[in-house]
Amino acid sequence: MTPVSFYLVTDTHYLNNILEPGGEAFEKNMVTEQFFVKESGDIISSVFNKIIEDKETDIVILPGDLVKNGEKESHNGFIKELYRLKDNGKRVYVITAGHDYNDNAYVLKGDGRAPVEGTDYNALCEMYRDFGYGAAIAFDEPTHSYVAEIAEGVRMLAIHCDSKDQPKGAMDDRLMSWAKEQLDKAKEDNCSVFAACHYPVIPSVPAFDLVGDAKIKDWRKVASFLADNGVELVLTGHMHIQSINEFYSEKGNRLIDICTSALVGSPAKYRKITIDENSVMKVETFDVPDFGWDLNGLTPQEYFDNHFAISVAARIRGALDGGDGIVKHLKSFGKSRFDNITVGGFKRLLCLKRDKELDRKKLSDFVGEVAVSIFTGDMPYVEGTPGYNFIAGILDRFSFVLKKVEPKLGKTDEKLDLRCMLLNTIGNNKGFSDNNAEFSLK
Ligand SMILES: [Fe+2]
Ligand SMILES: [Fe+2]
Repeated sequence: MTPVSFYLVTDTHYLNNILEPGGEAFEKNMVTEQFFVKESGDIISSVFNKIIEDKETDIVILPGDLVKNGEKESHNGFIKELYRLKDNGKRVYVITAGHDYNDNAYVLKGDGRAPVEGTDYNALCEMYRDFGYGAAIAFDEPTHSYVAEIAEGVRMLAIHCDSKDQPKGAMDDRLMSWAKEQLDKAKEDNCSVFAACHYPVIPSVPAFDLVGDAKIKDWRKVASFLADNGVELVLTGHMHIQSINEFYSEKGNRLIDICTSALVGSPAKYRKITIDENSVMKVETFDVPDFGWDLNGLTPQEYFDNHFAISVAARIRGALDGGDGIVKHLKSFGKSRFDNITVGGFKRLLCLKRDKELDRKKLSDFVGEVAVSIFTGDMPYVEGTPGYNFIAGILDRFSFVLKKVEPKLGKTDEKLDLRCMLLNTIGNNKGFSDNNAEFSLK
């Protein structure tokens, strides 16, 4: 592939503080919210400052969910920040996505929702004309997908799979045939092509293969289509997770999916990708720098991760609320146990072998740590670690349940092994990092 380097920033979910979010409803939502909504503007500015400082790389790619929920004022503020990149010599390419248009936008204020001006889907291309759409050499009107030549001999196929009135999270046959024309044209013109798409093309972790909205529909078909038509790299977002995955088509062609996390909440990473003259691709991942808020002595990373771990536990508590009759009793028993029980106590309940390392940890803290690690990538719970042994023990205890649900959940002719899938979701066994890695491209 032709040498090129660029920054990758995604799911910025920016909310303009001019809309004055706050109050009881806002604070209640923040308990389970992954993003730091009020801080989002300062987080984005601090990261853009770092990108501006780097004089080696002048391209920035943002694959969607630019603003919180389609607020017009959020787009106005975000576009100002993009002009700051542009005025400092950067070329910016965005894809818009589901959170970027909204006919019924609102902010949380006081004790409920306050309506604010939203954004019409059809207005987005003009609004972001200076950030990709204006440089398009091909444009697909129904979806707002486009092709741009981002460097001499290097084209980006920007696949918009989150468009209004189009199949959601999908690359249907019509869009695929438009993309095929673009890929054939690139071949004729002797250009290399990589793709960008808001939805992951390859499930970020094995368990996401079972979650409908976690990856593009018919992902094996889409991944094979891209790989067999000369695309070896796709840049994605949407799932707010750090992951790198490889897929091989039946013809033996490889696709690498680099999925990057949301910028404004745990794990809050952005990336720089450099492809050199020998077609070696280097992926580097960076934390959000200090963004000027008082974080009580925590680093931004600790601040983001602590909140995410607490919010995951809060979601589990929420799921254990409600119900009727016996279900209500069982849920409330589960909730009180979840809040108080240690890993050791839980093992005792299930008659699992106990060891010292994790036993004193609260179960709710352990669950939060596992969730943070899955979204940060390079999950450490590999075979032989206490965390792996604990989770493997639980799965073995409930193997009769797994065996019952496996035939219902299986997506291919291959028999689903739920135990293996879940254990590969908590431990990175791929042989390369999800954050800092090198690949030799074709
Ligand atoms: Fe998102
Ligand atoms: Fe999304």
